[in-house]
Amino acid sequence: MYVLGIETSCDETGVAIYHPQKGLIHHVLYSQIDMHSDYGGVVPELASRDHIRKLIPLIKQCLRESGLNSTDIGGIAYTAGPGLMGALLVGAATARSLAWAWQIPALAVHHMEGHLLAPMLETNPPTFPFVALLISGGHTLLVRVDGIGQYQLLGESLDDAAGEAFDKTAKMLGLGYPGGPKLSALADQGEAVYQFPRPMTDRPGLDFSFSGLKTFTLNTFNASEKTDQDKANVARAFQEAVADTLSIKCKRALKQTGLTSLVVAGGVSANRQIRALLTTMTEKENASIHFPKPEFCTDNGAMIAYAGCQRLLAGQHQDLEIFAKPRWPMTELSAC
Ligand code: KG4
Ligand code: ZN
Repeated sequence: MYVLGIETSCDETGVAIYHPQKGLIHHVLYSQIDMHSDYGGVVPELASRDHIRKLIPLIKQCLRESGLNSTDIGGIAYTAGPGLMGALLVGAATARSLAWAWQIPALAVHHMEGHLLAPMLETNPPTFPFVALLISGGHTLLVRVDGIGQYQLLGESLDDAAGEAFDKTAKMLGLGYPGGPKLSALADQGEAVYQFPRPMTDRPGLDFSFSGLKTFTLNTFNASEKTDQDKANVARAFQEAVADTLSIKCKRALKQTGLTSLVVAGGVSANRQIRALLTTMTEKENASIHFPKPEFCTDNGAMIAYAGCQRLLAGQHQDLEIFAKPRWPMTELSAC
């Protein structure tokens, strides 16, 4: 069964086709970054309108480049939440309509479950159970994963998500949108001048807080001579603090659960320093670590096609309702 995956939760229109035996057949992505960068962040209404413009052409392109027809598709998986309501509705309504026209099942996928399962597309996929660190623009979650849909929340951010902290800090430093990759590139030019705090690591628990670190970074920069090198130095110190904090909490989560496998996914997992630090930590702890390839760390249709395929194979699908849920805790998902 070929499964068509549709992702439209934020500022990327992603379409992919996955087959359970043949693997990922093809994926296409259109990023709205250029459009939103004029405004310094995602403008929800513009995002929805652009998904409307791009989604059907991308589906046609994905089918054509895969050498498949609509009649080959056996199921449709679409991101139903969490995300921007208007943007989600574009994907949900399109997926539902196509499924009805093609007389095939459609299934609502949780965006963070998509991220969580993205490493399954790699050649050396993780096996259950494992600890997952999900770091994206909207979420920072530590989850114990015993199977698809079997999620126990171990910790989360009490304020800004890791990606949000990157984006806001970058904006404060005048780096533009999207801030994460820009701040990371600047950090590479930085020298080890500052040591920033590692928030909430001095007390037990697995929750995070990145809001104070953001302010600390700005205050440090404002107190400096504000040269380009100062900016790079604070970017480096900020990134190191985030990476180290994530590493400390992941190590703690592995110890607490007794598990020896760590999955790291979501947009921020594309960050080279975070990948390196977490890899070193797991090596020392004799644990394995699994990331998606960088292009599947950020939003894409492939992870949605994969996640949806697993649930469709288990016989799950929804009725004809156009289902979109902007706020949707992962722990509400059913086991697969
Ligand atoms: O998973 P994602 O594409 O979308 C959400 O589900 O939110 O994550 C986007 C987030 C943004 O905050 C972006 O700045 C951040 O991931 N990001 C990065 C890097 N690449 C993307 N943050 C730090 N370093 C990167 N290389
Ligand atoms: Zn995402």
